Amino acid sequence: MFRATLLTLFPEMFPGPLGFSLAGDALKRELWALEARDLRLHGLGRHRAVDDTPAGGGPGMVMRADVLGHALDAVPDDGRARLLMSPRGRPLVQRQVREWAAGPGLVVLCPRFEGVDERIVEARGLIEVSIGDYVLSGGEVAALAVLDACVRLIPGVMGRIESGTSESFEDGGLEYPQYTKPREWEGRTIPEALLCGDHARIARWRREEGERITRERRPDLVEKSAGGFPRSVNALDESSLTAKDEL
Ligand code: ADE
Repeated sequence: MFRATLLTLFPEMFPGPLGFSLAGDALKRELWALEARDLRLHGLGRHRAVDDTPAGGGPGMVMRADVLGHALDAVPDDGRARLLMSPRGRPLVQRQVREWAAGPGLVVLCPRFEGVDERIVEARGLIEVSIGDYVLSGGEVAALAVLDACVRLIPGVMGRIESGTSESFEDGGLEYPQYTKPREWEGRTIPEALLCGDHARIARWRREEGERITRERRPDLVEKSAGGFPRSVNALDESSLTAKDEL
């Protein structure tokens, strides 16, 4: 079973949004497990300090390697990857998410303040992971994003419909636009191709729209995909369309 252990100063932030919907139902069904540990329990002195002033001076505080070492060492080493959420980390991609989701789980260290003493990263083989080029106030929200992305891929978590539409991202493009009833809303109609009932034409329209949007918004994905245009992350086989899908 996929097990997530979070090391944080704010264990109450978990499961948070992961306690709802797909991930939350799966948690109740014990398809995965989550444990949030309070870093403060390993803090030093009367105030249970976890941080100190930066060597060399400067603003902010740095989380201490000794405190983090104790917290990490208290988690049994069962082969799970150990992550450190950081804007300096390697950018998270779907290929990596799939690999982690198929494994035993993750141990995720969520820093606050100005970051962590660099020595802990090397000494404990932490994998630094970023969820994007912006700075959050701490690692917790980033950890939630990583776990959400992993948990939805655990077998049995998603229903047939959702899992049928998930595809790789790194060799995938962006999703085509979706429409539903009513046929006309505020004078806007649904593209004619989607209403024609010709499944081959619908599939072609979707592929072309997905490609157009990917080219416009993410030319980097087009460049990266060797051998052909990236397939939409939500690409559907023509065979998955049935008459009742028609509007
Ligand atoms: N902590 C702060 N910002 C972050 C980011 N962008 N990704 C991962 N962890 C973070």
